[in-house]
Amino acid sequence: MTDRPRLVIASGNTGKLREYRDLLAGAGVELVAFDSEVEEVGETYAENARLKAEAARSRSGLPAIGDDSGIELEALGGFPGIRSARLGPNQKERTAELLRRLEGVPRPWKARFVCVIALAAPGRETRFFEGECRGEVVPEWRGEAGFGYDPIFLVPGTGKTFGEMSPEEKRKHSHRAAAAKALLESGALERLSD
Ligand code: IMP
Repeated sequence: MTDRPRLVIASGNTGKLREYRDLLAGAGVELVAFDSEVEEVGETYAENARLKAEAARSRSGLPAIGDDSGIELEALGGFPGIRSARLGPNQKERTAELLRRLEGVPRPWKARFVCVIALAAPGRETRFFEGECRGEVVPEWRGEAGFGYDPIFLVPGTGKTFGEMSPEEKRKHSHRAAAAKALLESGALERLSD
């Protein structure tokens, strides 16, 4: 048993869960994974993050975080953005589809990853924390680490894609790490047990 407050992470994405376990390791909370399986019908990252977090809070009665994230291509007007998880039936096809849409577009393919975390605690207003990582999408798949679009996302100044980085290195640059840092620095997790 532990007397640390429990915090539900509303996600069924193993890549994300692994990152949150690492990012929130020192936060003084016991993390519980729970896939709230809500439909992402929101029109913004924040709306979708709220839907996931609040569904997990109502079903568990515990404080919950949900996140929504995506990759945005400048030359495609921010596409796929909140639709990043829906570009194809599996990640291999989603990545291939994104690269297909970039065919003929002059490089560099400037891009950013965005992550919004919603924290929904019982009896409190839901709060939001955002992070981004700017970089470039490259046409060749590089590296096997991480998940999602990591192998085609090159981080400026490192010469590496997220797919070529260790978890520690990805964490120095990633949108999810930046959003988690904002959550940690807000002090909101320390107040969960008040
Ligand atoms: P959602 O946040 O569950 O809607 O999924 C967002 C989609 O964006 C995921 O399926 C990934 O394909 C992509 N994505 C979000 N964060 C990352 C990341 O850190 N690396 C690679 N792909 C990501």
